[in-house]
Amino acid sequence: MAQSPTRAADRVDETRLWQRHMAMARLGARADGGVNRQALSDEDIAARRQLIGWAAARGFTCAVDPIGNLFVRRAGRERDLPPVLTGSHLDSQPSGGKFDGTYGVLAGLEVLEALEDARVTTRRPIEAVAWTNEEGSRFQPGAMGSAAFVGRVQLVALRDTVDRAGIRLGDALDATLAATPGLARRALGFPVAAYIESHIEQGPLLEADGKVIGAVTGIQGSRWFAVEVTGEEAHAGTTPLKIRKDALKAAMAMVAALEALMADATDVVRFTVGRFDVSPNSPNTVPGRVFFTIDFRHPDPAVLQRLGDQVPALCAAHARGCAVSVTPTFDAPPTHFTQGIVASISAAAARLGLPHRDIFSGAFHDAKFLAEVAPTGMIFVPCARGISHNPAESAKASDLAAGARVLAEVLAELAEQ
Ligand code: GLV
Ligand code: MN
Ligand code: MN
Repeated sequence: MAQSPTRAADRVDETRLWQRHMAMARLGARADGGVNRQALSDEDIAARRQLIGWAAARGFTCAVDPIGNLFVRRAGRERDLPPVLTGSHLDSQPSGGKFDGTYGVLAGLEVLEALEDARVTTRRPIEAVAWTNEEGSRFQPGAMGSAAFVGRVQLVALRDTVDRAGIRLGDALDATLAATPGLARRALGFPVAAYIESHIEQGPLLEADGKVIGAVTGIQGSRWFAVEVTGEEAHAGTTPLKIRKDALKAAMAMVAALEALMADATDVVRFTVGRFDVSPNSPNTVPGRVFFTIDFRHPDPAVLQRLGDQVPALCAAHARGCAVSVTPTFDAPPTHFTQGIVASISAAAARLGLPHRDIFSGAFHDAKFLAEVAPTGMIFVPCARGISHNPAESAKASDLAAGARVLAEVLAELAEQ
């Protein structure tokens, strides 16, 4: 006979969850309805304080680790067992939406509250976590908090990373930690029993397929590069073309060559130049310096290697007399989530009567790194027309609540193991 849903899933409160999304969206609100809450900014600090306030109001304890990952804990019956973690991130793209990342953190908090409301105890503690700097838009690379947590990157090396205004990550981090005082301190990388992340899909498949829940099977691989082209500033009216070292024209030739390299009739390769800074950015000075980024993704590690390894030589071949440096800033292989967890997510959706399907993620998530240290899975819910990294990002309150109910089921199960 099919099991019935737990009492915790029944206590997920759609209105509370929705209102919290709207409250978070006010922190860094943009005039166009979107959110600009970049990592370790004043807006991020405000969001952290809001989360800490909601947690404290329910008697949950909060802790922070050296990179600012913020943990909200509901104790288990056996207090010293490694916790089951759930969460995502509170930082956004500069022109982000209300749901990317925020949903996973708020769904986690919602489940902690639903467990309280249902008076359900769990053997293990369950913690909702907000990972620091998942987006990687202000400080590169992304998923920094989770990568540092699992030891993939070292915090000491990251501290000297600067944003476009020249602010060091280390200084922004120290300011963020100082602005949220009184939290218990945690070490990086404590043992984790399992990790489940809820997220909007950020693609169109669930909506097109009429499904409410995606049981995520894995995440494609990503490689990022930072390219710096250095030419020579010169007078636009007087300098003959043949003696110019025009950093912009060189960078444009590089991007065109990269576009040709990454061309894929099957539309599986994802290639993006998302940042392009020209200096001095004056109409009548030949550009002396260009900085641009490459974000390149694919599910197949062999393709990631074959195409990605050609990037430095291709840029050098189109330098047109300029100097070029190509620095890899992120290299994450494809991830395959734990099969038993994917199956638990599908089974929970089925118990709750929610249409579901397996799905593979094109976006990366903190779960990518947690999968290296603990059984890990993700729950996707639909977002309108798959739009994300866009102020117009939109999701239905009922779908967000449905995902939180599935999360409640899976967390309750894992926390008894
Ligand atoms: C996450 O924000 C990504 O770029 O996939
Ligand atoms: Mn995200
Ligand atoms: Mn994102």
